[in-house]
Amino acid sequence: MCGIVGYLGHREAYPIIIKGLQRLEYRGYDSAGVALYHDGQIQLSKTKGKVDDLQKKSKAEISTQGTLGIGHTRWATHGVPNDVNSHPHYSNSGNLVIIHNGIIENYEAIKQELKNRGYVFHSDTDTEVLVNLIEEVKKQEDVKLGKAVQIALNQVVGAYAIAVFDKEKPDEVVVAKLGSPLAIGIGEDEYFIASDASPFIEFTKNAVYLEDEEMAIIRRGKEIKLRKIKGDHIAYPNIQELQLNLEEIEKGGYDHFMLKEIYEQPKAIQDTYRGRLLADEGLIKMAGIDQNLERFLNADRIIIVACGTSWHAGLVAEYIFEDLTRIPVEVEYASEFRYRNPVITEKDVLIAISQSGETADTLAAIKLAKEKGAFVFGVCNVVGSSIARETHAGAYTHAGPEIGVASTKAFTTQITVLTLMALKLAQEKGTINKTQLHEFLVEMEAIPKKVEKSLEYNALVEQISDVYKDSSNCLYLGRGYNFPVALEGALKLKEISYIHAEGYPAAEMKHGPIALIDEQMPVIVIATRKGHYEKVVSNIQEIKSRKARIIAIVTEGDEVVKNLADHVIEVPEVMEALTPLLTTIPLQLLSYHIAVMRGCNVDQPRNLAKSVTVE
Ligand code: F6R
Repeated sequence: MCGIVGYLGHREAYPIIIKGLQRLEYRGYDSAGVALYHDGQIQLSKTKGKVDDLQKKSKAEISTQGTLGIGHTRWATHGVPNDVNSHPHYSNSGNLVIIHNGIIENYEAIKQELKNRGYVFHSDTDTEVLVNLIEEVKKQEDVKLGKAVQIALNQVVGAYAIAVFDKEKPDEVVVAKLGSPLAIGIGEDEYFIASDASPFIEFTKNAVYLEDEEMAIIRRGKEIKLRKIKGDHIAYPNIQELQLNLEEIEKGGYDHFMLKEIYEQPKAIQDTYRGRLLADEGLIKMAGIDQNLERFLNADRIIIVACGTSWHAGLVAEYIFEDLTRIPVEVEYASEFRYRNPVITEKDVLIAISQSGETADTLAAIKLAKEKGAFVFGVCNVVGSSIARETHAGAYTHAGPEIGVASTKAFTTQITVLTLMALKLAQEKGTINKTQLHEFLVEMEAIPKKVEKSLEYNALVEQISDVYKDSSNCLYLGRGYNFPVALEGALKLKEISYIHAEGYPAAEMKHGPIALIDEQMPVIVIATRKGHYEKVVSNIQEIKSRKARIIAIVTEGDEVVKNLADHVIEVPEVMEALTPLLTTIPLQLLSYHIAVMRGCNVDQPRNLAKSVTVE
């Protein structure tokens, strides 16, 4: 959470920082701020609200000139979102200025110590404590800024990606990372600092991603110096070539990133299986599994950990893994797993699923499993992310950048990768025969076209959305493979339209939620012909007799449910295990249209952030 941007070079820093912050707003959008160095002064402006608010305010109150600057977009942790708590923060002397993404856990104790030494604090943030600690170290130890940052960071407990500069040394920025991401873009005599590469993609393709416990001293016109926070110099920075394109991070004619990303799913799914699914040869190629095959084949069980939408993808995977490979699978919320003293052995394989690859709870679960000797496999979207680096092996979903805070294409590509993994292991274990495998592969290859077909129902979904946009509650029901899809549909609706929604296994309804059903309650039922169709039809009858309004997701040509439901949305016929890749599409569109009609901020829903780097 929180996005940071910085620039040191020969261009005007302000427009780069503002544009960069707009691209990073998915990471938090409670408040924003910028600090520029110009003519011996720091020009600082910050405000509660979005980057657009900052732009208006800063243009009115500061000089926006200067070739050194830092900026921040905030997702509040310590202190409510207001102007004072916004970043950047000054040190007491006014010489140092800092931006920070993360949490300093022992800030209270440090704050007290600094207060005893006469320091005064204006905000409730842990970040203001950190910048003053750096100032105090610099003064007491009589060291340069880089050394002071290093000493100070050895005294703090927590997570951070920081950038700090000193008014007295306007040709230098010091950055450091632990737990929160930090990338340095390297141009011709210029440096860019950001939480991810999107703010500088049009300026350079070369970047260094700091590892945990690394810091860098960035000087105008000089090579960057990397060192470990614990002490050693790092001889050569590992400069990587970025694969990201500008078009991928822009809206490309769509009103919202979420809609663009929903429509990108046919391609994203195809990109995810391309080169891995070889239908003609009847096999799946996945290097991460091939190289660690024994660990998988000898596994007593697979534990899947994830949060939110990624956890729902994990639930779909549980069905498919157990069905195809006969390996027992458990799916856990990473936040529960990490704190409940779970039984983990060296014969366990843990699969961590994460779009961002930065989710703090998932990272902590990985570290715990590694300590206990389990083999840890990551399914991530963001290349080079912390989870991708922390795991023993992994497979990327090739969804491309997902910027809308509500996850869409990440979910379907996660299911795609996990399905390929299950098929691969089933093939290696011999729990699937050649004919079954071939059938799967052929059906999988047809998915992008079928997703396209499902998207053609967009206008119908929009009409249905108009009928239900003022609902206060919604119930989502599904069985088998589509139970997790019901959970995901409900999550999408609540997070972007703020309508209360619950997902349930359809048969569980009569054990409680049925009490909620009346003529005001829209019930969205996934009733595709494959799977437990007759049972779901019975559930629909139970709902209908209690007068609820029924929106059913059905297989093309279905007549039975059409006669029972108030609305039906069709998806193409597909084998049961692959139905989630289709049934999820109308549910994404439904929540999208309802949110737009209710005037909600679809891409940046309140209180949320794309990458949850705090626990
Ligand atoms: C919901 C959503 C969140 C994320 C969750 C995990 O639309 O996006 O529930 O799925 O925060 O994030 P990742 O997958 O980045 O670990």
